[in-house]
Amino acid sequence: MARILVTGGTGYIGSHTVVCLMQQGYDVVIVDNLSNSNIEVLDGIEKIVGRRPDFENVNCNDYVNMERVFTQYPDIQAVIHFAASKAVGESVEQPLMYYRNNLGSLVTILELMLVHNVPHIVFSSSCTVYGQPDKAHLPVDETAPIQKALSPYGNTKQINEEIICDTCHANANLHAIILRYFNPIGAHPSALIGELPNGVPNNLLPFVTQTAAGLRDKLRVFGNDYNTPDGSCIRDYIYVVDLAKAHVKAVERMLAGLPTDQVEVFNLGTGRGLSVLEILRTFIKVSGIHIKYEIVGRREGDIEQVWANPKKANEVLGWKADTPIEDVLRSAWNWEKKLRGIE
Ligand code: UD1
Repeated sequence: MARILVTGGTGYIGSHTVVCLMQQGYDVVIVDNLSNSNIEVLDGIEKIVGRRPDFENVNCNDYVNMERVFTQYPDIQAVIHFAASKAVGESVEQPLMYYRNNLGSLVTILELMLVHNVPHIVFSSSCTVYGQPDKAHLPVDETAPIQKALSPYGNTKQINEEIICDTCHANANLHAIILRYFNPIGAHPSALIGELPNGVPNNLLPFVTQTAAGLRDKLRVFGNDYNTPDGSCIRDYIYVVDLAKAHVKAVERMLAGLPTDQVEVFNLGTGRGLSVLEILRTFIKVSGIHIKYEIVGRREGDIEQVWANPKKANEVLGWKADTPIEDVLRSAWNWEKKLRGIE
């Protein structure tokens, strides 16, 4: 079976994807410098799969050590590139760190893929590239216009997409699948791997589960005066295990030589938008925990509403995100309970 290089493979989406790949029989080598993840994730993966992935503690920006990885594993047939810095606020404060990490690592990997004749890359992009789509483009499909990024983080996703397109244009053998994620949430049903936010979470779900676990006093809902049915923002929350499966589909598609374009782009979402208050209410229902919350002012830079049209991924990749939101929220809560030793 083919070997896949997964950068950022001990991270949140990376670790779930490694599990799916290994369960399909792929060999995996993870490259991760553990800057925002934990080595014990490998134990979780091993417990779920029954095999341990190879692991190299290397910064993807480090050409010399990445070269060593490509040389050491000559059977790598495709790369899934997750490794990146991802905190929007931090990227505003430290733009150069974001440009160095996120752009440099992709450039390094593409250079080495060309040197070592690895012809397939799957890249983690984000719905952030669409900004706030106008009403005519909701739900968002892949033809919606890219809008000026609202943060250096978002800009690195846009520039990286361009780097991939330019590199493919210049190298006929190279193929890429760009996956634009909506809002990944939840954890593996085993509760052996999940999201491990650093410090106070910025994202909604980890904040909700930490509030339910008693680590945070209350959830602040950022705005109820948006032009949405209940006034709170709307997002397309996608189960991380469903998202992970899309990566396996993307790899299979490339290894089978099926792509019709050198660079293919897919939106990965459920096709359903849920408001912050709907998420909160559903979480309370499935967990049975009452969560204190307060409506506060809007968060700067927030988008009012965005959700995916996943038709292209459904039809072309043969993939669908269909886990019910109740199960997804339950998985997030089970993971938080496990982390905190609750029950
Ligand atoms: C954020 C990033 C996006 C990134 C994504 C990764 C911003 C502006 N965008 O998206 O670039 O790709 O995370 O997952 O940061 N909310 C609350 N209270 C909270 C936290 C969040 O009400 O304590 C609300 C937000 O206002 C938003 C929704 O929950 O309406 C989701 O927020 P979040 O999880 O941070 O995701 P995004 O803002 O969509």
